[in-house]
Amino acid sequence: MTHSLLVLGVLAAAAAGLWAWRRCHPVSFWYSVGFPARAVLVYLTWHHVASGCKLTRNRRRFRLTPDAIPVVGPASRSAATVVEHKRRVRRVDVERSPRLGILRPTRLGWRMRLRLHDGQVPADYEKAAEGIAHAWRVHSVRVVDVRPGRVTLWATMRDPLVEVVSVPETGELLTVRPGKLENGRDWVIDFRTVPHWLNVGATQSGKSNLANALLKGLAPQPVALVGFDLKGGVEFTPYAPRLSALATTRKESVDLLVDLVDEVENRMATCRAHGARNVWTLPEDLRPIPIVVLVDEVAELFLMADKSEKDEVAKTATALLRVAQLGRAFAVYLVVCGQRVGSDLGPGVTALRAQLSGRVCHRVNDPETANMALGDLDPAALDAARVIAAETPGVCIVAGQDGSWHRARSVYVPEGEAEQAARDFAHLTPDWETLVGSAPVVRPAA
Ligand SMILES: Nc1ncnc2c1ncn2[C@@H]1O[C@H](COP(=O)(O)OP(=O)(O)O)[C@@H](O)[C@H]1O
Ligand SMILES: [Mg+2]
Repeated sequence: MTHSLLVLGVLAAAAAGLWAWRRCHPVSFWYSVGFPARAVLVYLTWHHVASGCKLTRNRRRFRLTPDAIPVVGPASRSAATVVEHKRRVRRVDVERSPRLGILRPTRLGWRMRLRLHDGQVPADYEKAAEGIAHAWRVHSVRVVDVRPGRVTLWATMRDPLVEVVSVPETGELLTVRPGKLENGRDWVIDFRTVPHWLNVGATQSGKSNLANALLKGLAPQPVALVGFDLKGGVEFTPYAPRLSALATTRKESVDLLVDLVDEVENRMATCRAHGARNVWTLPEDLRPIPIVVLVDEVAELFLMADKSEKDEVAKTATALLRVAQLGRAFAVYLVVCGQRVGSDLGPGVTALRAQLSGRVCHRVNDPETANMALGDLDPAALDAARVIAAETPGVCIVAGQDGSWHRARSVYVPEGEAEQAARDFAHLTPDWETLVGSAPVVRPAA
């Protein structure tokens, strides 16, 4: 009696200890207890799960099977009765599940390689991913890293985007950390790798929040920030202390774009004179300051109230496209936000969109908008964009240059915080007139 009480006590103490461990240090608990237990479960049930998700294949295999000879029993019994057994090697159909590689733990789940059966394609696994996620009782399963004959499945236990904690400032030039990716890693925007970004989403989906995060991350850096805000300037005017230039009317935006194109061309001339392909290979004292251009609602730039604005709109479109085409080499980067960025806005928009290789798609109202932002990617990215809930503003699908995409969420940066950053770093704001007026004198290279 005392013996069983003692055992019960020890078990209770162990359970309490595990519970406390899990609460106090979930990361070490996951790696030392949670993950190994999960891994055992995944290996043990894999055949079952694969069969349920229709990923198994039948193979003919030699097996030693009992060879039963049915003999009709007495007349009173209707069923046949087996009376004799013999064991014999014969070919039978065997259900084989795709071979599992080693499970590797990640912070929020695990990843594992799978070998495809002949005739299977990664899309079969993408289709089955939701079923696998339910079978494993995890938040999501994604197919990543497709190699010939193999795929990697990435399981995430819970949605890491419910609460995002991140600091946009990275301390590296032109690099911002606006939030988190679904796999638990930091979402990093590096303008030197992906120079131009398109940021779409319905109203209240988190577009401006992302712009705030970018502004907050860039404010402490030696860069010039430029804003286009044709919705009366309500969005960007509070950030004016850190903006080198801000256009709030069509007239201003045409002038500012002319300045920008001139500046890009000046930089091009400087590079040519020094035999440099881009500003980063120029001697340090000649290297111009990078410019990041934020456009709040791109449709406003293209909308025409009447015919008289036609020329201005055409000029705007051409100038913006020119900046996008040349910006990468000459350190002028674009972040274009909009609810819709389609050809219905006018000629030039599609060409501009093609230049914006970084894509961020927040919640959208219609599938076409998601298609415009992510159309050239994996269809699964489009599906993921369509199911972003209105209750989670800031959640988006991010696609960079390498063709891969991620679910991500920006960190919440209220306007007040961005305004504070703009004031705190106002002393770093380059003066626009000096910036565009003082293009280094073009001297032929010695
Ligand atoms: N990443 C985020 N995390 C939490 N709340 C957010 C996030 N992004 C936006 N929000 C909330 O959603 C509201 C609308 O976002 P906003 O960026 O103004 O949308 P949009 O510019 O697309 O209309 C914000 O006021 C904020 O309260
Ligand atoms: Mg907005």
